[in-house]
Amino acid sequence: EAPVIAVDGPTASGKGTIAERVAASLGWRYLDSGALYRIVALEALRAGIDTADGPALAALAQGLAPRFEGRRILVGGEDVTEAIRAEEVGIAASRLATQPLLRAALLALQRRARAAPGLVADGRDMGTVVFPDAILKVYLTASVESRAARRHKQLMEKGFSATIADLSKDLAERDARDMQRAEAPLKPAEGALVLDSTHLSIDETVDAVLGAYRR
Ligand code: CDP
Repeated sequence: EAPVIAVDGPTASGKGTIAERVAASLGWRYLDSGALYRIVALEALRAGIDTADGPALAALAQGLAPRFEGRRILVGGEDVTEAIRAEEVGIAASRLATQPLLRAALLALQRRARAAPGLVADGRDMGTVVFPDAILKVYLTASVESRAARRHKQLMEKGFSATIADLSKDLAERDARDMQRAEAPLKPAEGALVLDSTHLSIDETVDAVLGAYRR
């Protein structure tokens, strides 16, 4: 099977940016597993499905056939690339991600992304649950303050508004939900390279991951 590099970590730790760059530099595919949870959240909000209704969420996920075209994400012909980045969609995604039935429904979809010459997968449970045989597992963290500042910058660039204070509070709540849930809680996988990017630039972080892969 094609090799996998798993990049896990808390919200706004920079996983997406790092994983995408590592994939580009190796010429591998990139899986943004959080986007799948966000797509389910967007569709659930639209359909009025409760974020605690596991069976309904699993059925919804099974019916979705998202297409990743470069940086665009299409669902049933609709381009949802921007819509899934809204803060309320992220919050709903974090809530519904606690549902075991939904997580199970998304497993196959995630594993299907594995293909030659390799896959860089970013999320919360890539190294622990989805790709336990990953050749390299990275756990990327950063301080709450620097993650809130990054998320703020990201949202501003996309035209959304938010205060750093609200974002910090929201980050702490999401960390708690991710780390305390019974199913696939967020934690470093066994043997993971733990990288704290608080004082590292994007390039330095990417180099650390590539260095660990080549070693
Ligand atoms: O942008 P942020 O890092 O907050 O989130 P994301 O990576 O886009 O994922 C959205 C939500 O889905 C997160 O809040 C996680 O709780 C959940 N998620 C998960 O449970 N497992 C994954 N493999 C990826 C995301």
